[in-house]
Amino acid sequence: MPAVIILGAQWGDEGKGKATDQLGVRAEYVVKYNGGNNAGHTVVVGEEKFALHLLPSGILSPACTPVIGNGVVVDLDVLFGELAELDSRGVDTSRLRISSKAHIITPYTKMMDALSENALGSAKIGTTGRGIGPTYADKASRLGLRIQDLFEPAELRRKVEASLAHKTPLIRALGGQELSASEVVDQLLSYVDRVAPMVCDVAHELNEALDAGKTVVFEGGQSTMLDLDHGTYPYVTSSNATAGGACTGSGVGPTRINRVVGVMKAYVTRVGEGPFPTELLGTEGEWLRERGGEFGVTTGRARRCGWYDAPVARYSSRVNGMTDIVLTKLDVLSGLEQIPVCVAYEIDGKRVEEVPSSEAEFARAKPIYEYLPGWSEDISQCVCFEDLPQHAQEYVRYVEKISMCRISSIGVGADRTQTIILRDLID
Ligand code: IMP
Ligand code: MG
Repeated sequence: MPAVIILGAQWGDEGKGKATDQLGVRAEYVVKYNGGNNAGHTVVVGEEKFALHLLPSGILSPACTPVIGNGVVVDLDVLFGELAELDSRGVDTSRLRISSKAHIITPYTKMMDALSENALGSAKIGTTGRGIGPTYADKASRLGLRIQDLFEPAELRRKVEASLAHKTPLIRALGGQELSASEVVDQLLSYVDRVAPMVCDVAHELNEALDAGKTVVFEGGQSTMLDLDHGTYPYVTSSNATAGGACTGSGVGPTRINRVVGVMKAYVTRVGEGPFPTELLGTEGEWLRERGGEFGVTTGRARRCGWYDAPVARYSSRVNGMTDIVLTKLDVLSGLEQIPVCVAYEIDGKRVEEVPSSEAEFARAKPIYEYLPGWSEDISQCVCFEDLPQHAQEYVRYVEKISMCRISSIGVGADRTQTIILRDLID
């Protein structure tokens, strides 16, 4: 019974929610290890559509324990809002566990997100505005608030005052509204009774679960190319979405991980600013956006769309030690005469096979395409690989070869059932 990490291998929104939900049905634990409510997962179960931001996808599987690890930043208001929504729709949410070491998004870190984006002007990151970056900044500056601080009110007050002492001059200078420490503390303390039953030592619980042979799925938020270290810095999120983040963000060591599954769309999207070599700015991009429903679950923003980028896939495979690819939304590509696949870049007149480690070079990268024949059939009802039209099969095989990692499942629609499984991800 394995420990499986499932993460995004492009710039987010690859369809991790559905893939995690499918694994979650068979797992004892689903653990969110990074990010916060900047994420947006859509999971379709039968007629019901669920949009989750902060909660792990495992919350929808009755036998699974959903866990928020220490690497996550928690907006308590959003947490209880999402729980109330699920409760009202008949989902049992009582199993949720939260690490006592997870950090708390505060009214002032949220405010700093907006003020800092504003101050950056045209150099802005295009954040989701949820306070994610400033909360991780407080964590690294040792000014953060953790879930456990809620149970020590005097300490909590001292910590809020310390953090505000750093921030208030900046808030004032950037034209923000000053916050009173007392109000912040009172607001945070109003959650104590409701949080208390969920709090636990996540590292201890997960390691015991693995000792007992249970299946643990680690769910990455955001994506490899948005990772703080390995993504397109500074146009990244402020946490480690890559496989290593699952270990630091939960307290489970790397020797215990059995599989690393990278989720990739059959094309690529990105929200927010930053380089994106295969981006399509004209009608082709428009076509992908409409066909793929590429509008953000969290912010409603139109996603930037482009063709499949094999150097990005290989890069992701490498930095994550990926064992499997889950290829999603293949059905969106039906109806194209030919499908471009980026196989390498042209940078300053030279052919470059891999993602360069220089951000400036990557920003100048132009895609070099191979063109594969398309197919016109609707593939959303295909249940096995052989059901796919010949050209769709060839596209998948080509993408697998050029990405240098095996494809273990193919998504052909939003529902749990619309998945062609080539290889079991839990075995
Ligand atoms: P932040 O995570 O709100 O700080 O945003 C930093 C960057 O990551 C921005 O470009 C966001 O659009 C992007 N981002 C954050 N979360 C997601 C996500 O779940 N899907 C896609 N992009 C995301
Ligand atoms: Mg999303």
